[in-house]
Amino acid sequence: MSDATRHLLGLEGLDRDTITRYLDMSARMKDVLDRDIKKVPTLRGKSVINAFFENSTRTRMSFEYAGKVLSSDVMNFSASSSSLKKGETLLDTARTLQAMRPDILVVRHGASGAPHMLTRHLDCQVVNAGDGVHEHPTQGLLDLLTVRQHKGDIAGLDVTIVGDIAHSRVARSAIHGFVTMGAQVRVAGPRTMLPLGIEDLGVRSFDRLEPAIEGADVVMMLRIQKERQGATPLFPTLREYSRLFGLNPDRLRLAKESALVMHPGPINRGVEIDPDVADGPWSVILDQVTNGVALRMAVLYLLATGRWDAEEATRD
Ligand code: NCD
Repeated sequence: MSDATRHLLGLEGLDRDTITRYLDMSARMKDVLDRDIKKVPTLRGKSVINAFFENSTRTRMSFEYAGKVLSSDVMNFSASSSSLKKGETLLDTARTLQAMRPDILVVRHGASGAPHMLTRHLDCQVVNAGDGVHEHPTQGLLDLLTVRQHKGDIAGLDVTIVGDIAHSRVARSAIHGFVTMGAQVRVAGPRTMLPLGIEDLGVRSFDRLEPAIEGADVVMMLRIQKERQGATPLFPTLREYSRLFGLNPDRLRLAKESALVMHPGPINRGVEIDPDVADGPWSVILDQVTNGVALRMAVLYLLATGRWDAEEATRD
């Protein structure tokens, strides 16, 4: 089994061919979701544990649904109702989960690098469902899938990511993915939310919204990650943030007329995104959710079988 199909820990270092195979496979998986009977026997007898040490709606549910559509057995673990409350460490919890012999462990954790650490101690395959401020690879892939679906090709597009870049694992994975696929990426946010050296990832950075979204094909808005920021406020007030960095219809006119508006969710209406934009014709936010299921089906299939055969994966 090659490295690309053993674990999925991040988009950093994945090449264009591997990413394209994930996207192609997801497009086929999406057909299954449109059938009358949304079930294929592909992963019958395989088991997946979703271990979420942080809150989640979209990511956890879509991994669960993806696993079920493919007929695998899916178990869910959430930190808030677990023995973690009784003092168990991450590694002991993970070893306990592994003793149930899952094929794949899907992990979300507040510490950057937690899934990578688990791969060194566990035998099962690991998928990173978001680690601290580091990466969220399945989100990055579903973002690429959504853009490809609407724009055809990703290479050459102008993509702008706006918000709390410093604390966003979504931004990091999206940057790696879009840059690898040949897009030009700009990031924008208050200086306090732009990490030093972000340009080294191949992006241009802006501390104002307007120049960053001018002529953009894709505008991705991000939530302020308050839970990951320290005690010192990174901007004066939410109102101020919204006035300077919120995306409203007027500002969106600076982007291309055909621009797509994306957001990984959860959205904070009236803060980073105006309701008219979130619900408007540019918005592909709900397409991202649907694509998230198809993409996670592809990831589970590829990791569990090591095969890239779409025909076989979607046979009922
Ligand atoms: C994101 C996350 O958890 O990193 N949400 C998601 O997975 N769709 C983004 C966020 O919480 O702002």
